[in-house]
Amino acid sequence: MTFDGKTEVYGVIGYPVKHSLSPVFQNRALKHFSINAVYVPFEVKPEDLEKAFEGLKALGVRGVNVTLPHKERALTLADIPDAHAKTIGSANTLKFTPEGVYAYNTDWIGFLKALKKFLQELRKVKVLLLGAGGSSRAVLYALKSEGAEVYLWNRTEEKAVKLCEEFGCTAVRKPEDVIDVVEFVVNTTSAGLKEEDPPLFDYNLLKPEQKVMDIIYKETELLKFAKKKGCLFQDGLDMLLYQGMESFRLWTGLEVPYEVVKGAVLEYKKEKLYAG
Ligand code: ATR
Repeated sequence: MTFDGKTEVYGVIGYPVKHSLSPVFQNRALKHFSINAVYVPFEVKPEDLEKAFEGLKALGVRGVNVTLPHKERALTLADIPDAHAKTIGSANTLKFTPEGVYAYNTDWIGFLKALKKFLQELRKVKVLLLGAGGSSRAVLYALKSEGAEVYLWNRTEEKAVKLCEEFGCTAVRKPEDVIDVVEFVVNTTSAGLKEEDPPLFDYNLLKPEQKVMDIIYKETELLKFAKKKGCLFQDGLDMLLYQGMESFRLWTGLEVPYEVVKGAVLEYKKEKLYAG
């Protein structure tokens, strides 16, 4: 693709943002449809968010993904927030238009699409959800909208209790209290990102018939145990890809095939591996 005077700009704003895989697969999606556009990372410090927001508008940027720690504030800055984003309380997708800035949350859709690959029916399914941060809200919204019965555990118990009052779930004091009755376990905490993070519960209690998902996109300790125990399991890469595919659809009206974006990430990882 040759960039010229008509090239449009998309991007991702976050802090930090250098680790983001979104430019890798969003640029592949643009290329797939021969769209004259580019998708770039914008590292924006929290204190600069308002300025950056105005700058994006002034520069005619067409759309951005929003990642940590800006998702909550991005929602409040937008002119036209979507109803799902309002309930979740955060936006990960902004679309700049002449009528104003639209805000969406595609994390919950990404989660559901990824999940449905290995758990089709969620009605009445008992789920242990770990974590009560921003990501947990999107996952909880998705699970409740599908009729799952959610048991929520969080290191800071008050946050779990508050979220359960809002979304209608059951806060538990420790994961071990319900691990025997749930069919599905999902981790939305950042514990597991680092090797030295202590386990959230005794992962030896997992049973082969349980399904396990970690929204972190690498093989965490939780997923290693799930594998060892013979559980069906999934890391967060598919959720990331599906949320991005939905953002792409909102910006362009086009549905990029999963294989295209997955292929881009796999190639990128392979290149990085060879580059050391
Ligand atoms: P995100 O938007 O990614 O969810 P967040 O809103 O900062 O990020 O939430 C982080 C979540 O990870 C919280 O549920 C947090 O628990 P607390 O509410 O008790 O802080 C959880 N978390 C982070 N590190 C953790 C750890 N080492 N053990 C257990 N939970 C952890």
